[in-house]
Amino acid sequence: MLALVSSTDPRWVDVALGDLDAVLVDHLHCELKAASNATALVTRYVYHPRLVRELAELAREELSHVGQVHDELARRGLSARPPDEDAYARALRRALDDRKGEPLLDRLAVASIIEARSCERFQLLSLHAPTPALRAWYHDLFASEARHCRLFASLAEELHGEDRARERIRTLAEREAEILSKMPVLPRVH
Ligand SMILES: [Fe+2]
Ligand SMILES: [Fe+2]
Repeated sequence: MLALVSSTDPRWVDVALGDLDAVLVDHLHCELKAASNATALVTRYVYHPRLVRELAELAREELSHVGQVHDELARRGLSARPPDEDAYARALRRALDDRKGEPLLDRLAVASIIEARSCERFQLLSLHAPTPALRAWYHDLFASEARHCRLFASLAEELHGEDRARERIRTLAEREAEILSKMPVLPRVH
């Protein structure tokens, strides 16, 4: 799946479907963080015209996902709550602390891998969620996060060169597989 070098633990689907409410509560924060990360990148790298244009659009799309998740929570009579600690994203950012000098490349690589893993898991939910409406919704999210994953990789290639970007994303994908293999299987997006 995309840049990933490992597949999600097969137990995750049952765990997620066993507590889809918890997945949705976590999902809201994933979409919020995606919107806020894209906005932060636009703010920090406002002199890159393509990055600004495409990530501003991506941020809008992530905010529309926030609205969709929020509506699904409301339909289920659930309320949002403050986010749990995001050990996965923190470990990913730390995984690239080994070198300095190309912070934009690293941020694009981390975003691309997070999108790839979300995309993989939404695809699983698009196949196994309990209702046709949920399966269709997760399919739309899967397609959207796949585009986002490719966009971050393509920006990394344009701004840092194809070879450098691919090598960095590959390195991170290998570390991501290791990180995920050490994390418990929980009803969360990651
Ligand atoms: Fe999203
Ligand atoms: Fe996304």
